[in-house]
Amino acid sequence: MTRAHPLIRLEGVERHYDDGAIVALKKVDLVIASGECLAILGPSGSGKSSLLNMLSGIDMPTKGQVYWNDLPVRSRKEWAVLRGSEIGIVFQEFNLLPTLTALENVEIALIGHGISASSRRSRAVKALERVGLMARLDHLPNAMSGGERQRVGAARSMVNNPVLLLADEPTGNLDSVNARLIIDLLLGLQEDTGTTLVLITHDENIAARCNRCVRMKDGGVVEDRLQVPQRQSSKLDTGK
Ligand SMILES: Nc1ncnc2c1ncn2[C@@H]1O[C@H](COP(=O)(O)OP(=O)(O)OP(=O)(O)O)[C@@H](O)[C@H]1O
Ligand SMILES: [Mg+2]
Repeated sequence: MTRAHPLIRLEGVERHYDDGAIVALKKVDLVIASGECLAILGPSGSGKSSLLNMLSGIDMPTKGQVYWNDLPVRSRKEWAVLRGSEIGIVFQEFNLLPTLTALENVEIALIGHGISASSRRSRAVKALERVGLMARLDHLPNAMSGGERQRVGAARSMVNNPVLLLADEPTGNLDSVNARLIIDLLLGLQEDTGTTLVLITHDENIAARCNRCVRMKDGGVVEDRLQVPQRQSSKLDTGK
């Protein structure tokens, strides 16, 4: 199989805590090609979130180097720029601002990037339309269901048309119907736009829908394989 251009590369990445007493990541070498749909699996505490945080620059390595398009990313400032323009993140706990409406929570991802207010609004509306929330634009997070909140989270992560979309157990706080809906949305977006998706999950069925599976144990990658993604026969009918 011909692999596309490496989008992000980890070279000998380690993350230590407590002066090295805890080694969350050890000697991780990983290349993620542009357009891949990659699942990360592994037991609790194996380093999955630590690894994902290295791909977004939310956290930085104790040792080793992360490369973006073959260039080393060395500072938090460089990472902040990448997160604003190239990277989208979906969190397990949604991470919405409680005093902002659904629309404002999505718009906020576009602030500070030289995008006009009217364009921010129209792009945020479009992203919320994509996740089926046109009827909830003015709702505050506490006036929405968990599934709706996560759809706002998904809209926020995709509103800047990221080349890399990261999701850390995005369905961990959802029932099975909403979980399926969110996964369909993320995988659908990946398929439609060719964005690179990295998805942490405990669910083997979700991992089977990706084209690559990375398994972690004790801070290291213990398996990394390409696979033919299993297609779902039909999309879930949510009545929306
Ligand atoms: N801020 C921190 N300080 C100290 N140790 C930490 C910190 N963050 C993570 N760790 C430790 O690093 C290891 C890896 O944690 P990580 O959150 O990456 O695991 P995980 O695979 O995402 O687990 P889960 O499936 O439970 O989310 C764990 O042993 C954890 O206790
Ligand atoms: Mg985790």
